[in-house]
Amino acid sequence: AVQRTFSIIKPDATRRNITGKIVDRLEGAGLRVVAQKRIQMTREQAEGFYAVHKERPFFNDLVTFMISGPVVVQVLEGEDAVAKNREVMGATNPANADAGTIRKDFAESIEANSVHGSDSPENAATEIKFFFTDAEIVG
Ligand code: CMP
Repeated sequence: AVQRTFSIIKPDATRRNITGKIVDRLEGAGLRVVAQKRIQMTREQAEGFYAVHKERPFFNDLVTFMISGPVVVQVLEGEDAVAKNREVMGATNPANADAGTIRKDFAESIEANSVHGSDSPENAATEIKFFFTDAEIVG
């Protein structure tokens, strides 16, 4: 079924000016960018977005990394968009990512891993709402 998922192009990618290369991978996988904006997250926003990881040892470093520069937040739409996006992103740790995936080809480390993508349709809906109003999403 046609689904929507939420995506972030992270600061390591905006810093290296490779957001277009990443969008090219997403579009090449059949995903459509139906909303997109470049933002500087506040610490409060990043902490709220990653609240599920609050107890993890990497939480503080992750938040600091996510506010270290601009990010591009996106809504992606397509057939099985959540799974398709996860496939084209590759494993969280680039060392474990399959050949041809975004993280294998672009990520710098498990933290600076270039992209975030929702892990379920339910989380996608929550994450989309965190950054976008309905009016900003144009399918
Ligand atoms: P993301 O998909 O955005 O979800 C949580 C993020 O935490 C993850 O990508 C990584 O950027 C970051 N992270 C840093 N260390 C770890 C780790 N050990 N395990 C999982 N995620 C990590």
